[in-house]
Amino acid sequence: MSVYTRIAPVVEIRGAVKHYRAPEGHLVPALDGIDLSVGANEFVTLLGPSGCGKTTLLRVISGFEQLDDGELLIQQTQMNSVPAHQRPVHTVFQSYALFPHMSVGDNVGYALEVRGVGKAERRTRIAEALELVGLGGLERRKPGQLSGGQQQRVALARALVDRPALLLLDEPLSALDRQLRQSMQRELKKLQHELGIAFVFVTHDQEEALTMSDRIVVLNGGHIQQIGTPTEIYDRPANAFVAGFIGESNLFEVSVSAGNADTADLLSERGDLLQVPRRDLQVGQKLQAMLRPEQFQLDRPQAQGAALEGKVEQTLFIGKDFEVSLRTVHGSQVKAVIRDTGRHDLHRLQPGSSLQLWYALDAVHLIPEVKP
Ligand SMILES: Nc1ncnc2c1ncn2[C@@H]1O[C@H](COP(=O)(O)OP(=O)(O)O)[C@@H](O)[C@H]1O
Ligand SMILES: [Mg+2]
Repeated sequence: MSVYTRIAPVVEIRGAVKHYRAPEGHLVPALDGIDLSVGANEFVTLLGPSGCGKTTLLRVISGFEQLDDGELLIQQTQMNSVPAHQRPVHTVFQSYALFPHMSVGDNVGYALEVRGVGKAERRTRIAEALELVGLGGLERRKPGQLSGGQQQRVALARALVDRPALLLLDEPLSALDRQLRQSMQRELKKLQHELGIAFVFVTHDQEEALTMSDRIVVLNGGHIQQIGTPTEIYDRPANAFVAGFIGESNLFEVSVSAGNADTADLLSERGDLLQVPRRDLQVGQKLQAMLRPEQFQLDRPQAQGAALEGKVEQTLFIGKDFEVSLRTVHGSQVKAVIRDTGRHDLHRLQPGSSLQLWYALDAVHLIPEVKP
């Protein structure tokens, strides 16, 4: 159990199944057996490619969609058939969906007005919510008189004015340019921390997920591939999908070809030899071995290491680092990111040069073969 959900989770989803009927008549599985708990002040990100079920999962939590099977609890209460407006949940969308003819203040206070909250209290709470998102004093503007980033903040204030226990955010930053997006990422994270409420945040951008989240839920095809902290997901991906989707990785299909007391040899399908600590590997066992590009270095590491040998195909200078593509003697392509210290090694990185890429044996992450 996660450290975040040990104390009363705000959301619990068990065995969630949701199908849509395609126009052609057949059923499309959008959620195919989802189990997930979200802690009361946790920042959880749903990450996965387009069509993997992220929006559907948010809509199920918010009540805009009903589950076909499974159970949804919010704050320990069964919510399957509770209508959306009675759930302690608000959603912020990528399209801000503000009322253009209404002032910022009226947009933010709309939900309060519908619920019959008096004018004086409304005014205080609108001011508080706008203050929270850094828009204090802009009550009387119209949405059209604000920038895209400011409009997104208004949408955020509108979702927070009701003090929900849980905020759902469906790719809220995708429409913003890169710089604004990065500053909004930091602000959202800070805001979540200050408010102490749970955020379930949707993105297809792995960098955004790694930066912002307490935990990441990696989805593909309506299935959870892995749930973990950003470092768990990055350092120890559960399968090849996660390894490939998050960050860059060199993946080798290998079998254990030999072993001694300390180390085991892994032979790739092409014939590359990798070495790893022995652990409990059995000769003949099939696995996938992963090395991240930044785990390679040009010199023998201090810790027990081994190297892949080949010829440099391409070198790109990418700021502080060099990205080196190596073709091994067995024909595998390996990508390495080498920190540009000294610069005296540059000649080794010329295309056509022979190069050894060293790694520490314990840097190799092994993914067990999935039995079909
Ligand atoms: N209203 C709908 N009718 C039919 N199929 C839908 C509908 N909404 C979503 N789907 C399908 O369900 C799957 C999951 O969609 P969605 O949750 O929107 O994915 P994501 O938000 O991860 O891109 C996709 O295959 C999508 O085409
Ligand atoms: Mg979506």
